Amino acid sequence: MKKIIALALAVMMAVCVFAGCSAKSEKLTMATNAEFPPFEYLENGEIVGADVDIAKAIAEKLGRELEITNIDFDAALTGAATGKYDMAVAGITANDERKKNMNFSVDYYTASQAIIVLADSAISGVADLEGKTISCQEGTTGEQYLLDNEYTVQSFKTGAEAVTALTSGKVDAVVIDDAVARALSAEQNGKTKVLDEALTQEAYAIALKKGDDKLTAEIDKALGELKADGTLAKIFEKFELPYDAE
Ligand code: ARG
Repeated sequence: MKKIIALALAVMMAVCVFAGCSAKSEKLTMATNAEFPPFEYLENGEIVGADVDIAKAIAEKLGRELEITNIDFDAALTGAATGKYDMAVAGITANDERKKNMNFSVDYYTASQAIIVLADSAISGVADLEGKTISCQEGTTGEQYLLDNEYTVQSFKTGAEAVTALTSGKVDAVVIDDAVARALSAEQNGKTKVLDEALTQEAYAIALKKGDDKLTAEIDKALGELKADGTLAKIFEKFELPYDAE
């Protein structure tokens, strides 16, 4: 009889341990657009990049299992805003327009829009862009900048397609986030170059559903810790992203 009770207790304890484990690993769902190297891109079919490493580190701190979905950039933004996903991590610029519809974490990276041109182009700065046709990624702050300044714009689903429009002679320049401009231009084997001039000042943050203040606070806390202990600096270094730890 004693043996049976002992066995029953052992089984119950084991069940508790397992139940405890599965309760802890509640999913943390993330939307991204893996067309944005080195923040998120596909490598042998796997979604990798600085944002992915940051999201993994946050999920670990929250004790939740990260689940990443790769979709169009505008869909990732909408998906976070509507709460279809817990968050969107996609080199997203936290600007006032977007803050009307969604929550944002604290900033984790500083960026700007940059210009890519053909290596032998006569365009050497924003002053030379007048009257030119410029490509960009749809739904981005780069696109918004071009529309606001009344350029002739060709928008593409991905930055890579925007660059192909340049190398195939369909547009005169590409406008896209600076680090991504460098990464995409580096893939062109010297056919293109990135101009030094920064067109905007932007800050990346994680987007969440408007009013999801609990998760936003949890993510802010995690980001604060990852910044303080040097994890963020290490991740940016791994992806050769310039970073001022300040
Ligand atoms: N920073 C820009 C924006 O927020 C571009 C982001 C594009 N991100 C991406 N994963 N494709 O609009």
